[in-house]
Amino acid sequence: MAQYSIAVVVGSLRRDSFNRKLATAIAKLAPADFSFNQLRIDDLPLYNQDDDANQPASVKRLKAEIAGSQGLLFVTAEYNRSVPGVLKNAIDHASRPYGQNAWGGKPAGVMGVSVGANGTAMSQQHLRNILAYLDVPTLGQPEAFIQAKDGLFDTAGNIGEDSKKFMQQWMDRYVAWVKTHNA
Ligand SMILES: Cc1cc2nc3c(=O)[nH]c(=O)nc-3n(C[C@H](O)[C@H](O)[C@H](O)COP(=O)(O)O)c2cc1C
Repeated sequence: MAQYSIAVVVGSLRRDSFNRKLATAIAKLAPADFSFNQLRIDDLPLYNQDDDANQPASVKRLKAEIAGSQGLLFVTAEYNRSVPGVLKNAIDHASRPYGQNAWGGKPAGVMGVSVGANGTAMSQQHLRNILAYLDVPTLGQPEAFIQAKDGLFDTAGNIGEDSKKFMQQWMDRYVAWVKTHNA
């Protein structure tokens, strides 16, 4: 059984999301003692502080999945130079009620793919800002700003040849990062 269970949050609900494909493909580069669980965020209501004392079942589930993980992986789209609202909504939900932040202390990796040349760089910087406040240590290097282009994925959905070396290096650093924080 995997020793390190990673809670993966994909910052896009789009059916054919490049970011979901990336999250699925990169997980295959991890060693056998790591497992990756993509968290469901599309059934979360819009966050409303009035509900803090009575969080819906979907929020409780999200928080339990995060609590049971040894690390986080955010793979996000960039919307209008920031994080998509669906991702921020999920982050806000699991950060509350005040004093019961589920994210805190979990080591996180951040990456993303966009059709634009900046490869979600601004979205990721905004995300790092949010995570710093939530007491989530993030892997600094290598940064992974990926542009969606032909060959990024092979026909089986794996990382394509041109990007494989970089993605493997990223995963190796991430694995070491998670292990350090769980030691
Ligand atoms: C509302 C909206 C805003 C977007 N803003 C940006 C942006 O700021 N930068 C960028 O590179 N791409 C932007 N895009 C294009 C996304 O990179 C593209 O839709 C990408 O496929 C989203 O990721 P996904 O495939 O995982 O859904 C935007 C797309 C939408 C729908």
